Amino acid sequence: MQTTIEKTVREIALENPSSIRVFESLGIDYCCGGKRPLSDACSHANVDFDRVLKLLEEANRDSQAPEAKEWREKPLCDLIAHVVQKHHGYVRQETPRIGVLLAKVVAKHGPMHPEVARIDQLFTAIGPELSTHMLKEEQVLFPYVERMEQAVQNGDPVPAAFFGTVKRPIANMVAEHDDAGAILSQIRELSNGYTAPLGACPTFLALYRGLEEFERDLHHHVHLENNILFPRAIEMEQEH
Ligand SMILES: [Fe+2]
Ligand SMILES: [Fe+2]
Repeated sequence: MQTTIEKTVREIALENPSSIRVFESLGIDYCCGGKRPLSDACSHANVDFDRVLKLLEEANRDSQAPEAKEWREKPLCDLIAHVVQKHHGYVRQETPRIGVLLAKVVAKHGPMHPEVARIDQLFTAIGPELSTHMLKEEQVLFPYVERMEQAVQNGDPVPAAFFGTVKRPIANMVAEHDDAGAILSQIRELSNGYTAPLGACPTFLALYRGLEEFERDLHHHVHLENNILFPRAIEMEQEH
């Protein structure tokens, strides 16, 4: 049997969703960069490997496992509806709200904290990219996956798609997830792990809290797509 040491972060997150809280708290990427073994991921995030193993054990013991496990079995159309409603909805709601906070903080504290202007540039770039990305999922990839699942349920052949195999749009989506993840990780670094300066005003604090939550939500979102939805869609296409 494969031990935790040999498994990739992605495998651990899939098998034991309670591990996601541990990875989040330590800044270990389990979605975009989740394909590396746990030991590598620990060195990358600069955290002690034994400490992580201990935390994972503890989390496993008193697991309040969130959503992920059930999504490995539920119909794909339900998972898609969940992703769109919860995560796409969240991105659409939060992007303008964080934009407003950023503009205020840059105007007020930009001269003393130049890192905020850089964060503003990065976040302003990510908004339209995520918006286009979600539209491609909602208008092209997800409807195709739903049609494919419906056909399989009806015993019909998998429908033809203009993109050939579903692996193509999926590879595109995964590459875009990596790009978004990299930008958010840059923001995390620039903000010193979302630590507002001592005595920061409530807007500054709200901004960093908002950005931290935004990154966390994107990780959950990408985890559901990269690690569950996409592999299941590829498997379904291959088997039918
Ligand atoms: Fe998505
Ligand atoms: Fe996506």
